[in-house]
Amino acid sequence: MIKHFSLLSFMLLALGLHIQAQPQATVLVNDAQAHQTISRYIYGMFSEHLGRDIYDGIWVGKNSSIPNKDGIRLDVVEALRRIHVPVMRWPGGCFADEYHWKDGVGDPAQRPKTINTNWGGVTETNAFGTHEFMEFCRLVGCDPYIAGNVGSGTVQEMSEWVEYLNSNQESSITEWRKRNGQDSAWKVPFWGVGNESWGCGGNMTPEYYADLYRRYASFCKNYPGAPLKKIASGPNGHDLHWMEVLLQDIPHWMMWGISLHYYTVPTGNWSHKGSATDFGEDQYFSTLKRGLYMDQILNDQEALMNRYDPQKRLALVVDEWGVWTDVEPGTNPAFLYQQNSLRDALLAASTLNIFNQHCDRVRMANLAQTVNVLQSVILTHGPQMVLTPTYWVFDLYKVHQDARLVPLQLQTPDYVFGDDSLPAINASASIDSTGAMHISLVNIDPHQAITVKLEFPGSASWKFSGGQLLTSAHVNDCNTFEHPDLIHPTSFSGVRQSGNVWTVQMPAKSVVVLTLKK
Ligand code: AHR
Repeated sequence: MIKHFSLLSFMLLALGLHIQAQPQATVLVNDAQAHQTISRYIYGMFSEHLGRDIYDGIWVGKNSSIPNKDGIRLDVVEALRRIHVPVMRWPGGCFADEYHWKDGVGDPAQRPKTINTNWGGVTETNAFGTHEFMEFCRLVGCDPYIAGNVGSGTVQEMSEWVEYLNSNQESSITEWRKRNGQDSAWKVPFWGVGNESWGCGGNMTPEYYADLYRRYASFCKNYPGAPLKKIASGPNGHDLHWMEVLLQDIPHWMMWGISLHYYTVPTGNWSHKGSATDFGEDQYFSTLKRGLYMDQILNDQEALMNRYDPQKRLALVVDEWGVWTDVEPGTNPAFLYQQNSLRDALLAASTLNIFNQHCDRVRMANLAQTVNVLQSVILTHGPQMVLTPTYWVFDLYKVHQDARLVPLQLQTPDYVFGDDSLPAINASASIDSTGAMHISLVNIDPHQAITVKLEFPGSASWKFSGGQLLTSAHVNDCNTFEHPDLIHPTSFSGVRQSGNVWTVQMPAKSVVVLTLKK
């Protein structure tokens, strides 16, 4: 009897310990209700004339020993092609509102040199201008998104830029484009009317900006076959007042969308933002907490948009987002060069899950930035190139581009830190044009593996067709020029299927993307 009792208690104890050690989440996958499309533009990028993003990162010049096509480095192009970058925003950022596009066309030897007053006061050679940007987009296979200069430019200047890029009619401007080597119009669809007009773009009031927007937008014309998608410079994160004034003062038909910028600063303190790689669990937790706040921002901004635009004609365009840390020691503070860790990848994956879930309103997003600046997908050093953990998230998640969102009902245990907690698991799912379903799951808990139970009330006929895992030993691990492949996706097989119920063993601090087919 005593023996039996001890065996039983031992088994119960073991079971209890097991349950404690492996918490469980449940995801109800409503695959029969996949109606809303996840715009591919949610997976967009942003490149500014800032630090080494354009110069070094994208443009090395025709005479460089780094393999290039007309000055554009080919390793970077290939890497961006692989992740199917759908849209690239350029030339800024704050730089956009002091950029005069005519300085950047024509004979490179004749282009004026200007000063990049926003980013370190360095000399801007204007070697990379409109034609070079359009060629870069062509090579990458993405749509261009141009941010026009409202802060220090003129209506005429912006309106002529649209004409230069989009018109095939005979005019002095289009003749000039032809003399500069481009016969037919490129037909750029996306146009930002200013950038952060509440800040570096002119420190305007929303009322003043709304008036300016109306004026600028009136003279940015639709040329035949080139209708413009105009984007107003929207709020800083949770600023509801800025959003509401724009919604009240600008007729909806004058805008395709309204932008929103939100950066995740690990400490929340812009003077000491925190290191990109040297951080403890306190900053790991606060980074995730601040980053996941994106969901709240979108909920609140969308609620406001729904009041003025219940038909959802207007897009919300999150055209700057990402983690912003202190720069790497020894680098120019104005160049915003930072490393990129597994933590950043977990936040990118979680943020993209949030954007997918908000795809009825969020129709474009642009990571800040592409190469060598902030939460880049690529770092370069001379001829070397490193793909960051964030790059691999975009690679894994490209399957969601233009796929139909599958609604999920998620119950998750918490990741507890001190007396605070966050949902440990987040997810999104979609069905692509071939009928395959992809489910992206993130476990942000750095200590606990979690069993995720997937239930399919709609259909029993899905079959596991492959999985990919992104993780590493430590949340501050990163890919360096010495060890460029420390973090990259590996094949994932921790899935068991039993009828309509699947179990997925999610390792601690990991991203998993599953492919299911019928
Ligand atoms: O991405 C860096 C800067 O952050 C951009 O130039 C500006 O728009 C934002 O404040």
